[in-house]
This record gives sequence, structure tokens and C-alpha cells, in this order.
Amino acid sequence: AIDLIGRHFLKELDFTAEEFRGLIALAAELKAAKKAGTEVQRLRGRNIALIFEKTSTRTRCAFEVAAADQGASTTYLDPSGSQIGHKESVKDTARVLGRMFDGIEYRGDSQAAVEELAAFAGVPVFNGLTDDWHPTQMLADVLTMTEHADKPLEEIAFAYLGDARFNMGNSYLVTGALLGMDVRIVAPEAYWPAEDVVAAARKLAETSGARITLTEDVSEGVVGADFVVTDVWVSMGEPKEVWDERIAALAPYSVTMDVLRATGNPDVRFLHCLPAFHDLGTAVGRDIHARHGLTELEVSDEVFESEHSVVFDEAENRMHTIKAVLVATLGRPVGE
Ligand code: CP
Ligand code: NVA
Repeated sequence: AIDLIGRHFLKELDFTAEEFRGLIALAAELKAAKKAGTEVQRLRGRNIALIFEKTSTRTRCAFEVAAADQGASTTYLDPSGSQIGHKESVKDTARVLGRMFDGIEYRGDSQAAVEELAAFAGVPVFNGLTDDWHPTQMLADVLTMTEHADKPLEEIAFAYLGDARFNMGNSYLVTGALLGMDVRIVAPEAYWPAEDVVAAARKLAETSGARITLTEDVSEGVVGADFVVTDVWVSMGEPKEVWDERIAALAPYSVTMDVLRATGNPDVRFLHCLPAFHDLGTAVGRDIHARHGLTELEVSDEVFESEHSVVFDEAENRMHTIKAVLVATLGRPVGE
């Protein structure tokens, strides 16, 4: 069984393929145990701080439920409920919380902040999303892929369509490269991941055997894909004004039924980390509709609601995989 006791979980590049696969395997075990009613608590008495400088539904709830299932308690600090970054430095916050808590989750814009927290806390720190990486999401997505594809990870092909310069695009590229997958980034060149991220992925691919494609051509990018994935075109923290340029640049990369058909794979599955803009169910969706006449952005409602879509399995898997991170880094051996 995987043992990452005392380790941080900050970005995919910090882990070997074996460690990453070990976390996926542990998550699958924990999921099966929960469903069978045989889960063993390995985090009793542990205290975990959850710092959220940006909003969250899945990540926060996943940490809270995972911790509770395992016997740990959590303290939620929202952007207005702590001094971090405003009246107190990240470094000082790290040293205070590190004296009280056994582990700290952090969501914010800056990767440097979560790295600084980790450097000074003295306890494991978990990245709950920064502008650069969303590593806990990758565990959930890979677990979901293993559940829905009847083949080993190295034989799975997935295509990410949309803004690939941000957390999700970076994380998909590097995770696919780490695990030896067939990764396609499908976007206008200006929206491809930064050169250093692409270089890191290519380096990983040398040993993992991953196939890496960056293309502007949707048909070329998706053909033969087992999974088509996307993310919002405007991320948390970005100004509303960028919607116009995003819609202009990314509209051809919207995941529609035509895109799924272009894979040539009748069993293709659709993934999205969520939240998604696919109907008028959100204020943002209604605003975009009023201003641009669009109801569907990165994914059509038809795809989102189709049998190809496994987004709610993916959302559930956030909890099982985050539980694996907590157990692997903070858990007591079974029976202790
Ligand atoms: N996918 C994801 O991170 O969702 P939340 O923003 O709701 O946590
Ligand atoms: N790219 C999105 C992901 C949300 C889970 C954002 O950062 O807002």
C-alpha cells in the first residue's frame, strides 16, 4: 500500500508515476470500502485546516466528507474569515496553523503561496487549486477514466479542448505525460500551456512513453479519443471583460455532439471538472446569453446531459481521491 506520510500534495510534478498510481489504487480501495460499509478510520484525532481564498463546492465538500468518514475534524477558513495574505503573511499563517493542525488544504490564485505554506507549516499541505495546477482534480479524473475505460492507462487517449493555459490544461498535460497516456491539447496556439509546462511534459514522456499532441485542429485532436474533456473558458479570478475574447477564440472548441462524433468512438466519454456553463442555470450563463445570445459555452447541454457524460462520477470521485491523499499523508497504519 502507498505510504506518503508527511508529504505535501502541491503539484503533479512532485510525484512519480508509481506514487500517483498508488493514490488512485488507494482511492479505489477506499471507495469500495465505503460502499461496502467496511471503511476503516485511519485519521481519528487528526485536525485539518481548509483555507479557501476562492469559492468551492466540490473541493471543500470532498475534504470535509473525506475527513469525517476517516474520523478527522476540519476547520474551514473562507476569504473573509482569516487574516491570511491581508493582515498576516502566508509564512506566519503557516507557522501558526502548523502548530494546531496535522494538515492544511489551500485554494488560492498563487502557486507560490501554497508552496510557501508548505515550506513553513511543518505539516503536509494540499493544493486545492491554484491558477497553475489542480492536482486533486487529476486524481479524480484519472480514477474516473480507469472506471470507464476497459484498458490500461497507457492505452487511454484523451483530448482537452479549450483554454489550456490555466490550471486544468496544465494539470492534464503533465498528468497524462506522467502516466504514459495519449494526451491531446486542442486549442488555438495562444491558449496552449506555457513552454516550460510543455517542456516538463515532454521530458516525462521520454520515460513514460506518453504521446503528446498540441494542435489547433479539432478533428485531428479528437480522433480515436476515449475521453473528451474541457473546462470553463473564464476561470475564477479573471475579469468579466475577457469573456468577449474567449468566446471569439474558443467557440470552435466547444464540445458538441459533432466533436464527440469526430472521435469515431461510439463509447467516447465526456469529462468536466465542473462547474460548467451548459445552460441558463447560472447567473454567468444568463449574463452571457443576454450579451452574446449563447446558452452553451465550453460544452453543449446535449453533450452534458448525454450518456457520454460521466461528470457526476467524476465529481463523486473528488471525495474518494482526496480521502486517499489524506490517508496516504496523514493516516495511521491499519489496526493502530
Ligand atoms: N472542480 C472543482 O474544483 O470544483 P469546486 O470549485 O466546486 O471545488
Ligand atoms: N479553471 C477553473 C477550474 C475550476 C475548478 C478555475 O480555475 O476557475
